[in-house]
Amino acid sequence: MGVAVDLRTTVGSVDLAAPVMTASGTAGHGDELAAYVDLSTIGAVVVKSLGSTPWAGNPAPRVHPTPSGMINSVGLQGPGVAAWREHELPAVLATGATVVASIWGRHVEDFGAAAEQLAGVDERVVAVEVNLSCPNLDGGAHLFAHDPDATAAALRAASAAGLPMWAKLSSNTDRVVQIAAAAQAAGAEAVTVANTLMGMVIDVDARRPLLGGGGGGVSGPAIHPMAVRTVYDVHAALPDLPIVGVGGVVDGRSAVELLLAGASAVQVGTASFADPRSVRLVLEGVETWCSRAGVSRVRDLIGGAHG
Ligand code: FUM
Repeated sequence: MGVAVDLRTTVGSVDLAAPVMTASGTAGHGDELAAYVDLSTIGAVVVKSLGSTPWAGNPAPRVHPTPSGMINSVGLQGPGVAAWREHELPAVLATGATVVASIWGRHVEDFGAAAEQLAGVDERVVAVEVNLSCPNLDGGAHLFAHDPDATAAALRAASAAGLPMWAKLSSNTDRVVQIAAAAQAAGAEAVTVANTLMGMVIDVDARRPLLGGGGGGVSGPAIHPMAVRTVYDVHAALPDLPIVGVGGVVDGRSAVELLLAGASAVQVGTASFADPRSVRLVLEGVETWCSRAGVSRVRDLIGGAHG
């Protein structure tokens, strides 16, 4: 028999009851997973990124399987912050979930506009993840997270929400540590590391890119080692900056890997498309792993792989 495990963790000023959340873009804008998971038992529901206005997203096809994962070019389809607050947020709050909003923009002022619409939101929305790293907007033309100044400018605009900010970064750059530092200096309480890796699938019969958006973002177990490395590097360089780890988490062990690399909490994304119960199953896997390993407080794992 193992030890009892305290699953609580904190990300900056945000206390979470558990270290496993949904990843933005993989759990809808509301209560879509509620039929499969008691959303009040996970760390948080992180909603798909919302713009300041409704946005239709990219042409189909938008998703395709890849070896050990998938590629997407959804293009940030969504109702916009105001409609989300009115029509979708109440349903997810009714599940008892802790909610993390997410916003995107093509330009700095778009982040400000989306953030202003979030101001004064229900207190159960505990943070806003600022998506600086979607590779699917206009073919990757708005990757704020590839540049420290652009990252800082978008975050300063997003501060209008008045919520703790988590900056969602990209592994598609060799400057991720510099960019994480810029995010912290611009007011981010934490960084989410990281978004999908840029990729492409060619339809060999059509001799054209398969996805409607052209390229896309690769996710799933194939990118897990890259996520672990990026989290490890950011934690090594910036040990006081809380990290939310994301990338190919499929079970307790892969979540624990990210915690040991330096993440304070993790997100589950692609696995939910294969099994919508995944976020809960990963959380149970973390608890089981800790119990068997004699770890009584999950937060004691954070950064444990560093010497
Ligand atoms: O295309 C998409 O909606 C993906 C968004 C993201 O990776 O942030």
